[in-house]
Amino acid sequence: MRYAVLAPSSHNSQPWRFVLKGETVELWPDTSRHLAVADPDRRELTLACGASLFCLRLAAWSVGAGLSVNVSASSERPLASITRAALECEFDWEPEFAALPYLRMDFRPFRVDTPTPALLRAVTRPILGGFPRGFKSYCGPVKVGLVRDDTGRQAISRRVEEAAREQWSDALFRKELAGWEGAEELLAYRLGLPPFLAWLAPRLLPVWSPAERIAESQGQQAREAPVLVVLGAAREGVLEWLSCGECLAALALSGRARGLSWSPFLAVTRRASRRAHVGEQSGVDHPQVLLRLGYGGHVPAPPRRGVDEVCSVG
Ligand SMILES: Cc1cc2nc3c(=O)[nH]c(=O)nc-3n(C[C@H](O)[C@H](O)[C@H](O)COP(=O)(O)O)c2cc1C
Repeated sequence: MRYAVLAPSSHNSQPWRFVLKGETVELWPDTSRHLAVADPDRRELTLACGASLFCLRLAAWSVGAGLSVNVSASSERPLASITRAALECEFDWEPEFAALPYLRMDFRPFRVDTPTPALLRAVTRPILGGFPRGFKSYCGPVKVGLVRDDTGRQAISRRVEEAAREQWSDALFRKELAGWEGAEELLAYRLGLPPFLAWLAPRLLPVWSPAERIAESQGQQAREAPVLVVLGAAREGVLEWLSCGECLAALALSGRARGLSWSPFLAVTRRASRRAHVGEQSGVDHPQVLLRLGYGGHVPAPPRRGVDEVCSVG
């Protein structure tokens, strides 16, 4: 469980809850940590739960245990009921497991050097079959698309910029984010404040819109990204989001294990029309995740809730 809580999540919301029932671990979304304005249909919340589920799989793998995972899209039932099973995974996840404590989203500009095609092949290899290799999928395959050409990046970056402008112009979105714990450093960076003034960020955000600044910087980061990666499922749905979240974690870890950093542009996948556009550029239907990969720098570890805070005995 110590590994499961290290997963990335939308605005570090960590919206997962684990209930231990005898030999079963149930993974539930923590609806008290749902960002209702930013994520009205709970898509990002489910992606984050998927990322946490994958980290749990890796932790079990590291001690030679397999997991049997039963998923459910019903809000009455856990997203996943997990029990121990024989380990059937033959893929070597050691590099990704070793990278897990060091996985950090890097929201700063990346260096200009581009990962080689061979490196990108190695990074995407763990999810190329449509699901983290060696684990049993519970819905259709997750498709991966890489965008490296200038035309594709230009086209996508325009949508990224537009989506960021729309999102950060929304006073309700800014108010929700300002009230969110543990996001000061990221917010300060987005607002252009030096780290020692990070405490000011949540106070400024409700009354000052940084939409233009953020839109420009997000657009530029997408345009100059060494590579953009798109993950998409065969259709929209809770289980598809969950499996995209698993693949997101597997991909980010695979990159980290090979010296690459990541950061997401998820606002652009919130609206169907923009998703369609990203889909056209990447050849991926129903894109759920857009992220950039490249060479970043050192980023301090963001705070995480402890195992005691996210686990209960049912
Ligand atoms: C599903 C998902 C959505 C995310 N959305 C955003 C976002 O909209 N804006 C942002 O700055 N970061 C976003 N992130 C990145 C998180 O902010 C980041 O994972 C979190 O702050 C924890 O930091 P870490 O990944 O470095 O541990 C997202 C991550 C995930 C998994």
